Amino acid sequence: MKPNRELHFKTREVHAGVEPDPTTGAILTPIYQSTTYVQESVDRYMAKGYSYSRSGNPTVAALEKRITALENGAGTACFSTGMAATSAVMMALLNAGEHAVVSDVVYGGTHRLSTRVLTRFGVAFSFVDTANPQTVQAAIKDNTRLIFTETPANPTLKLTDIAAISEIARARNIPHAVDNTFLTPYFQRPLELGADLSVHSTTKYMDGHNATVGGAVVAASPEHLEAIQFVRNCLGSNMSPMVAFLTLQGCKTLSTRLEAQSRNAMQIAEFLQTHPMVERVAYPGLESFPQHELAGRQASGFGAMLWFEVKGGVENGKRLMDTLELWSLAENLGSVESLVTHSVTMTHADMDPAERQQVGITDGLVRLSVGLEDPEDLIFDLRQALDRL
Ligand SMILES: Cc1ncc(COP(=O)(O)O)c(C=O)c1O
Repeated sequence: MKPNRELHFKTREVHAGVEPDPTTGAILTPIYQSTTYVQESVDRYMAKGYSYSRSGNPTVAALEKRITALENGAGTACFSTGMAATSAVMMALLNAGEHAVVSDVVYGGTHRLSTRVLTRFGVAFSFVDTANPQTVQAAIKDNTRLIFTETPANPTLKLTDIAAISEIARARNIPHAVDNTFLTPYFQRPLELGADLSVHSTTKYMDGHNATVGGAVVAASPEHLEAIQFVRNCLGSNMSPMVAFLTLQGCKTLSTRLEAQSRNAMQIAEFLQTHPMVERVAYPGLESFPQHELAGRQASGFGAMLWFEVKGGVENGKRLMDTLELWSLAENLGSVESLVTHSVTMTHADMDPAERQQVGITDGLVRLSVGLEDPEDLIFDLRQALDRL
């Protein structure tokens, strides 16, 4: 029996949602690898809460309870991927003939879903600079039914003031969804700042070990949660019990990993600033970061994502990525392994080049997801690659 009082984040990330298994006492919620659930009688259908694993699964439910406890939401729906989570938010809230305002810098997949799928179903999108509340205000139309922001945004790390945008949204009765993947509830809790939905690719820090792909939407209201669960059940984009099990284990070290990875990121950002081959470094923890004040105000940490541009343009950027030894050239982020990504050819390849340039996703942008290795080794590797340019 867990104590009946408000527990701190670090306790909730280990315990929330999980009780010893009622049959065996197993301390971990088992992987309930079962398609269906035998009912006691017709009259007692769903008495134990489950019927068919597309609609609900006990291992997934344990993870949903844990994420709800970390974000302070009304409830959570977990998904097969982060993109399935984002898709469900948009499909639950937008109808043909309606309009959404979306951050001009967002994960490439969110941009692709909006511009190449949902527009075919009669939904219109405005991609605007959500760092500027007046721009958001001006972009709202009579038929706007969703404001979707991502902060820090992938890959430029542009920030959106969650409280300011939530206030604008609330005044017009428009739901505000925030993609909180980069900072996680340990550093940033959008619902406490007034947002209606917090969206995650659990693939990233929640799992943290490059072991799964998954997603989650935390809702502030039961009505939104229900609408999103309904779409998930229709699409069949639910999370698998194996992924939920692994993500439950990953969540236990979320705060510890993020603290250490952010410390590493700060050291790496400071090193990069001093290297003569580096043109520019962006990390919200640096005083030189244009929105450093907002980063400190709305989040309790700066995260472990950063980017830089090397002198000598794209060619040197590519050479650098090819000569790194410890950093892996890979698409993911948020794992204990340090990763380097060339956004233009990898995560944002589908975006129109002119549009990319306009929002600051330059051809020479090298994105780093800083892991848990010893920072000296990470810096050594970056230095040897930069020195060779
Ligand atoms: C900020 C952000 N949101 C959503 C996604 C999509 O998540 P997934 O790859 O789990 O579908 C990503 C993936 O990189 C991301 O970086």
